[in-house]
Amino acid sequence: MTDTKKSIHGQWSSRLAFILAATGSAVGLGNIWKFPYIAGENGGGAFVIIYLLCVLLIGVPIMMAETMFGRRTRQNPINTMKTLSEEAGADKNWHYLGWMGVIAGFLILSYYSVIAGWASAYVLKAFTGSFFDADASEIQELFDGLIASPVQLIFWHSLFIVATMSIVARGINTGIEKAVRFLMPSLFVMLILLVAYAMTTGSYDQGIEFLFMPDFSKLTGDSVLTAMGHAFFTLSIGMGAIMVYGSYLPKDISISKTVFLIAGTDTAVALLAGMAIFPIVFASGLEPAAGPGLIFQTLPIAFGNMTGGWLFGVLFFVMLVFAALSSSISLIEPAVAWLVENKDMDRKQACIWSGWITWLLGLGTVFSFNVWSGFRLFDRTIFELLDYLTANLLLPIGGFCIAVFAGWIMKQQHSEKELDMPNPLGYQAWKILISYVAPAAVFLVFLHVVGVL
Ligand code: PHE
Repeated sequence: MTDTKKSIHGQWSSRLAFILAATGSAVGLGNIWKFPYIAGENGGGAFVIIYLLCVLLIGVPIMMAETMFGRRTRQNPINTMKTLSEEAGADKNWHYLGWMGVIAGFLILSYYSVIAGWASAYVLKAFTGSFFDADASEIQELFDGLIASPVQLIFWHSLFIVATMSIVARGINTGIEKAVRFLMPSLFVMLILLVAYAMTTGSYDQGIEFLFMPDFSKLTGDSVLTAMGHAFFTLSIGMGAIMVYGSYLPKDISISKTVFLIAGTDTAVALLAGMAIFPIVFASGLEPAAGPGLIFQTLPIAFGNMTGGWLFGVLFFVMLVFAALSSSISLIEPAVAWLVENKDMDRKQACIWSGWITWLLGLGTVFSFNVWSGFRLFDRTIFELLDYLTANLLLPIGGFCIAVFAGWIMKQQHSEKELDMPNPLGYQAWKILISYVAPAAVFLVFLHVVGVL
C-alpha cells in the first residue's frame, strides 16, 4: 500500500448499513424526478427498455467492480486507483480516474442541490395547503413562480448544501448510516400508495402503456445515450461514490449479492415513480415531455385532489428531500475523504471547503432557470449543460475506464478473490460483461452519437 494511506478510514457497522447507504446513494432524485421526465421526453417504452438493459449489462458489473476496488484498498477513490495500478504494475495515470470522479461529484451536486431545493420548497407548499383543490394550470403557476425567483432558489439551495455538509461532517457511522435507516423503507411504501392512487385516475392503462410499450421509432442516438447515462447516474456509478462506500465495507460481505439487491431496489423505485406519475400526467391532460418540472407539475394535482392529500403531500416531499440527501452525501464523500486522508484536514474543515465550492457552482444552475435562461452554449442552458456533461459524458467515460481496469488491468486472481462468488459461472459471467460487453456498449453508444455508426 502507498504512504498516503492512513488508518483513519472508517467502516460500516454491518452489511445492512452498507446496503442502506449504497441504496440511499442510488435512490434519489434520479429515480423520482429525473427518470420520469427523461422517459417522457424520449418517448417512453423503448427508452425504458434501453435503460433497463444498460442497468443489467453495464451498470451491475461496473457497480461490482467499483465496490471491489474500494474495498480492496480501503482508501478514497484517488488513492484507490493509485494503489491498484501500482499493485497491477500499470501506469500511474490511472489515478486521474479518481480525480475525474471527484470533479464529476462537485458538478453533479451543484445542480442536484438546486433541484433538491425545489423539493424542499414543495414541503412548505404542501404544508401550507397550496395544492388544495388546485387544477393543472394553478399547479403550473406555482412551479413557474418558484423557478423564476433566484432569491427563493438560492435560499433552498443553500439550505440543502448546509444539510448535506452537516451530515457528511459527522462521518459515516453517525451521520450517513443513521440518516438512511428509516428513509428508504418509508419512501418505498409511499410510492406504492401513490401508484394505488394512480390506478383511480382513469388513465392508469394509458400511463402504463406509455411507460412499457416500446416504440423504437421514437429512439434517437441521443435518447440511447441519455438512457445509458441515466443507468450510470441512477446507480451512482462512474464517479467514485460507490467506490468510496465500498471502501468502508467489511471484508466478509458478498459484493455480488449486495449489488444485485441495490440495483434491483433502485430500478423498482424508478419504475414505481413512473407508474405513479404517467397516469396523472394523462388524466390531467399534461405533456409527458414537460421536462424537469414534470413531477412538480403532476404530483401536486394528485395531492390537492385526493383524500388525505395534505398529509400525503407533506410526507412525500419530505421523503424526496431525504432521498436526495442520502444521495448528495455520497456525491461529495470522495472529495471529503480525499481532503481528510491526503490533505490532513478534519472532516468539518473538508466539508466547509467542499460545501462552498458546490454552493458557488450551484448558482449557475439557479440562474439558468431565470436571469440567465436565455443563455445557451451548444444549444443548452447551464443546467442542461451540466446534466449532459456529467450524466451523459463523465459518468459513462468513468465507467468505461473502471470496466477496462477491472477486466484487463487488475490481476484475475485479485478480482476473483475480492468478488468471491459462490458459483464459478458467476465470476465468468461478470468477467465477460466487464471486459467486453460493458466497455464495447459504452463505446458503441458514443460512436453512434457522434454519427460514426
Ligand atoms: N444515484 C443518484 C440518484 O439517482 C444520484 C447520484 C449520482 C449519486 C452519482 C451519487 C453519484 O439520484
